Amino acid sequence: MREDTGSVKTKILIVEDENIVARDIQQRLRSLGYDVLSIASTGESAISQTEKNRPDLILMDIKLKSGMDGIETAEHIHNRLDIPVVYLTAYADNHTLERAKITEPFGYIIKPVEDTELKSAIELALYRHTTEVKLKLEQQRVKELTHKIITAQEEERLYLASEIHDDLLQGLVAVLYFLQMIDLSSLDQKTQNQKKELIKIIKSSIGRCRGLISEIEPLREPKMGLIQAIKKSIDQKFVNADIKVHLDYPEKIAKINLLTKTNILRIIQEALTNVQKHADATEVFIKITTSRGKLRLKVKDNGIGFNPKSIPLKTSPHYGLLTMRERAQLIGGELTLSSRPGKGTTIKGIFPLIFR
Ligand SMILES: Nc1ncnc2c1ncn2[C@@H]1O[C@H](COP(=O)(O)OP(=O)(O)OP(=O)(O)O)[C@@H](O)[C@H]1O
Ligand SMILES: [Mg+2]
Repeated sequence: MREDTGSVKTKILIVEDENIVARDIQQRLRSLGYDVLSIASTGESAISQTEKNRPDLILMDIKLKSGMDGIETAEHIHNRLDIPVVYLTAYADNHTLERAKITEPFGYIIKPVEDTELKSAIELALYRHTTEVKLKLEQQRVKELTHKIITAQEEERLYLASEIHDDLLQGLVAVLYFLQMIDLSSLDQKTQNQKKELIKIIKSSIGRCRGLISEIEPLREPKMGLIQAIKKSIDQKFVNADIKVHLDYPEKIAKINLLTKTNILRIIQEALTNVQKHADATEVFIKITTSRGKLRLKVKDNGIGFNPKSIPLKTSPHYGLLTMRERAQLIGGELTLSSRPGKGTTIKGIFPLIFR
């Protein structure tokens, strides 16, 4: 990225095969206060000079007589380095412009060029590039933060579930055990009834603790597989709902590592919560398949659907879809959503299977 310190001149590479034009532009750029690193007359030499000298900006003639043209050269550079390119062109037909667009140029200058035009195109391109770099950095930070939050949330859940299991639940089981051992046969009926009542309360608390653990962290149990956990979530979510859930899964799924399993489960849980909250659906189909080291997931509902490009603004923020995508990326997978008003919603995911 260009250091905008004022004293550091912007370094420019000129790619132009007409020597007279190149020299003219070089002179103008210098008089405008820029540092012209060099002039390249072919795409190949432009690439090698870019890699070696890392200019802040490239002025690129679209038509180069030999070898690659300006667009191919820019594409090559664009795929490897983040350096803004401004095209120089005598004329450009629609086809050329379309091709040029793919390389995401930061501007076009039509030759012959005036000094003011040259300066404003360069300054605008540099400004846009700096803004884009900042935005990308910001997006990267948001992504990292989201991943941290997701991981921290899972760790917190695991901690809570372990505490409930190892402390509270074990304690209650011990109390129950000793209570059942106490022989009250010689005592009066009232005390015996109180013991029975106490046993009932403790058993119910044990049941509640187990329920809590499976809600917070269904996969904590070593023997709990992904499919079992999905079935549990379906039962918990749709216990009183008028939605028919179809679950289609392979007979055997190899043992997946906990991080992958947990995130796939959370993605399904959020998809199902969305169906319940927003879809007004009567049926939802969950399909899981595995092949060649990948797990494919499809969650499809027959509800009202929506336009993913214009999610209605409500007072509360929408984090579900965003978090689902981030969870997918966290485990090396990806997620796509398709939906249209009146046509239901489908979420598809593909995740690499990492075995335990
Ligand atoms: N299956 C679905 N059917 C219909 N609309 C949906 C469905 N899934 C999502 N939507 C729409 O997309 C919006 C965004 O969903 P998202 O899960 O990101 O946020 P949310 O559910 O509103 O809030 P939360 O942050 O609690 O998840 C929803 O508010 C809803 O309008
Ligand atoms: Mg949601």
